[in-house]
Amino acid sequence: MKKILITGGAGYIGSHTAVALVNAGFEPIIIDNFSNSNKSALIGIETILGKALKCYEGDCNDKALMQRIFAENQFEGVIHFAAYKAVGESTQLPLKYYTNNIDSLLILLETMVDFGVKELVFSSSCTVYGQPDILPVSEETPRQEAESPYGNTKKICEDILRDYIKSGIASRVISLRYFNPVGAHPSGEIGELPLGVPNNLVPFITQTAVGIREKLTVFGSDYDTPDGSCIRDYIHVMDLADAHVKALEYLFRQKDNFYDLFNVGTGKGNTVLEVIKTFEKVSGKPLNYHIGPRRPGDIEKVWANTDKINKVLGWQAQYSLEDSLRDSWNWQQKLGERE
Ligand SMILES: NC(=O)c1ccc[n+]([C@@H]2O[C@H](COP(=O)([O-])OP(=O)(O)OC[C@H]3O[C@@H](n4cnc5c(N)ncnc54)[C@H](O)[C@@H]3O)[C@@H](O)[C@H]2O)c1
Repeated sequence: MKKILITGGAGYIGSHTAVALVNAGFEPIIIDNFSNSNKSALIGIETILGKALKCYEGDCNDKALMQRIFAENQFEGVIHFAAYKAVGESTQLPLKYYTNNIDSLLILLETMVDFGVKELVFSSSCTVYGQPDILPVSEETPRQEAESPYGNTKKICEDILRDYIKSGIASRVISLRYFNPVGAHPSGEIGELPLGVPNNLVPFITQTAVGIREKLTVFGSDYDTPDGSCIRDYIHVMDLADAHVKALEYLFRQKDNFYDLFNVGTGKGNTVLEVIKTFEKVSGKPLNYHIGPRRPGDIEKVWANTDKINKVLGWQAQYSLEDSLRDSWNWQQKLGERE
């Protein structure tokens, strides 16, 4: 079984990808410093798989630790999730974001070179597109100036990877540009566990539905969209996890010195109000929400052209928005039962 290092593997997307990798016949090994996750994610993974995964508690920026982890395991690939991701916080604490998100990639690449590990899948984001002029947005669409230090770290990391491959190194790298990950494992054992007030819509919805938050604010009702609220491409985290498996398998079939990037979305946009209505339908719970003013920095509308990933990786989103919201709701309810 090929050993795959998953940095940030206790986090939201990493934990689901760990499960998907085991189901595809890989042996994932996690490093996480639990700065934005909880050890309960490891228990959830263990419950789903019926076995525990090896996990190192530590920081990807700790070069000596990374060297030790690579020395102790013969990895055949890496998926690099570890990063800070709170857009708002990144505008307040840009250095925290630049240091963690960029240094961790540099140290990882250096360690991969030292140990001859070639394959890497990197977590990028549709944030690199900003507000595109033409929709849906394809990989050819020019990136725009980042709206936040967080977004800029993703652009810089993509550039680092491109330069790294351009140098002629015998390595193979894919950047996946995620749209808006939502949902949870259908078992309800793992899911998104935001620490503090959620930054994303769906955890805010589910926390409002169980009474942790008093009400949800919809930021803006005068956008140029069918109902005036913003449009995003909501991708089920199980589909996203599967895209990582497909990306890794594809990398193993490539020759050395390879770089490519792919959008990972459903190819369909939904407004915030559609998400709320769909949640109310699948949960049977009316949601306490109100319309507020626009939020500075929000993009009006973005959704993915997924032709490239459909054709090249043979990957297609399988889950609907209803599925995503049902699974998020199930996860939220199970969380409440555990507390
Ligand atoms: N969730 C989204 O909306 C979204 C969208 C686009 C891209 N991404 C990117 O996908 C990746 C995973 O996102 P997520 O939603 O699972 O986030 P998450 O915060 O749930 O997971 C990230 C994990 O990395 C860990 N971590 C952070 N810095 C670390 C470090 N220096 N060393 C070790 N562990 C560290 C955290 O503790 C956490 O468990 C991130 O790179 C994020 O920027 C996320």
